[in-house]
Amino acid sequence: LISKRSYHPKVIEHYTNPRNVGSLDKKSKDVGTGIVGAPACGDVIKLQIQVDDKTGIIENVKFKTFGCGSAIASSSYMTELVHGMSIDDAAKIKNTEIAKELSLPPVKLHCSMLAEDAIKAAIKDYKTKRNSTVLH
Ligand code: FES
Ligand code: FES
Repeated sequence: LISKRSYHPKVIEHYTNPRNVGSLDKKSKDVGTGIVGAPACGDVIKLQIQVDDKTGIIENVKFKTFGCGSAIASSSYMTELVHGMSIDDAAKIKNTEIAKELSLPPVKLHCSMLAEDAIKAAIKDYKTKRNSTVLH
């Protein structure tokens, strides 16, 4: 029997030493913010990206997560993945990739889903901002 509380060492490592914790200026034109919550448990991830307008490359990324160890580890790993990536590639990242890297058990799959939702929301926010800038 696997306990829900038996975390994989990779989860514990990210939880203990999370990468890219913090905030970016929400009002900045080149920053996209994604805030998503998991209906299953009420946990919340805020993930922010700063994008180079010309190349579409994510130059900076920060997160804050109010949630379980797996949600924190998933966010932390997501920030490592997307740093230096184009927004188009980042939008294609699947939660299964994260779940596999962190060896998340089935009951914790929604934690990695939260990280996927957060990056997608951040990219969408950035694109919305950029489009409105172009139009006006
Ligand atoms: Fe308690 Fe997610 S249910 S932290
Ligand atoms: Fe809900 Fe992890 S238990 S995000």
